[in-house]
Amino acid sequence: MPIANGFLLPTEIPDEKFFDLSVGLCRSCAMVQLTNVLNRDQLFHDSYAFFSSTSEGMKRHFKEMAASLTARYLENSEPLVVEIGSNDGIFLSNFIGTNVRVLGVEPSANVAAVAVSKGVRTVSKFFDEQLASKVVNEDGKADLIVGANVLCHIPYLNSVFAGVRTLLKTQGALVFEDPYVGDIIKKTSYDQIYDEHAFYFSILAVSAVCSRHDLEVFDVEPQTVHGGSMRYHIGIRGARPVSIAVSALMEQERSAGLDRLETFETFRKNVENSRTELLSILQKLKAEGARISGYGATSKSTTVLNYCGIGTNYIEFICDTTPGKQGRLTPGSHIPVVPYGAFAEKYPEYAVLFAWNHSNEILAKEVNFKNAGGRFITYVPAVGILK
Ligand code: SAH
Ligand code: TYD
Repeated sequence: MPIANGFLLPTEIPDEKFFDLSVGLCRSCAMVQLTNVLNRDQLFHDSYAFFSSTSEGMKRHFKEMAASLTARYLENSEPLVVEIGSNDGIFLSNFIGTNVRVLGVEPSANVAAVAVSKGVRTVSKFFDEQLASKVVNEDGKADLIVGANVLCHIPYLNSVFAGVRTLLKTQGALVFEDPYVGDIIKKTSYDQIYDEHAFYFSILAVSAVCSRHDLEVFDVEPQTVHGGSMRYHIGIRGARPVSIAVSALMEQERSAGLDRLETFETFRKNVENSRTELLSILQKLKAEGARISGYGATSKSTTVLNYCGIGTNYIEFICDTTPGKQGRLTPGSHIPVVPYGAFAEKYPEYAVLFAWNHSNEILAKEVNFKNAGGRFITYVPAVGILK
């Protein structure tokens, strides 16, 4: 596989890097994880391609999250919220003008700069145990630590949890959410598997990590975003009552077999079938002379395109609203990424919905494409052409 967010210029093709992508299940703690991870500086740097605020739906999601966590955890007079992986400030910008003190920790300097320009105090560093001690020295301990779609990106997870333990106030909470392995299995959303996603969390696995750091999960809340995510509320062991939702989810995971290898062997077969079905639709449409584009040059699409062997043989271009991806080629498959206008000016007959996790938002706004006879092709939770 190439680097999932490694959108490149044609001149960079000869130097493009590839690596082996494979996933393993830990038989003792049920963690699902990559067996081979890349160096963090190769993935997160000053030209990081993903800007969180490209989705209106996610802006709303984080606004609601800020309101819900404020009511639950921020009663002190000048509480401190530290966010790990704060990107362009999509979450923390909701606290501007309030009594809440915020600190974003965001190593990718270009996205961190956008947050700073919005007035979100941000340090462009990787969060780990050492950084957490530095924050305690300079800002004191945190009432709330938040991480959205980031803890699963951090292979040195024990250092992160040790840092959380150092940084949290006695009654403080770490609230984090990531794509949920239960949904990945159920929906065969294998495109969540790529270099940046070192972990595919379950509560069984998250609880095992917590137990190594004097922490415990005291609540869980399923989320619909990113194809199905889980929000974990974590505190210092014994500090807060544990909701029955925690043991209920553990029970559910055991009965779904999320701690057993057979479950993942079935998943593998489902993934292979998904590839066969997607290729057969594309081949059929192509044989009929249809024009097919992609919609959303997601990191996830890198896995699908390279795993299925889809390139410009099937897909003319992929439109994406992120300026930094436009004018470049998709990693490995080398499909041109174009601005949204190129899609709207001359609609193709079909568009593969690579940003399927934002399908509500996209289907609602693509009325003209639909009225022009355009159809979306999807592959999650099943391969097909959307009605
Ligand atoms: N929280 C945002 C961004 C998710 S993308 C959202 O949900 O939309 C993951 C982000 O985590 C990237 O911006 C990346 O630069 C950052 N990141 C990666 N490793 C990190 C680390 N060790 N500490 C803090 N942020 C990290
Ligand atoms: P996303 O699915 O959030 O993330 P990932 O890269 O982690 O798989 O990425 C959404 C991508 O789709 C992003 O590059 C912006 C693009 N996009 C559009 O082009 N149009 C849209 O309407 C939306 C919602 C996203």
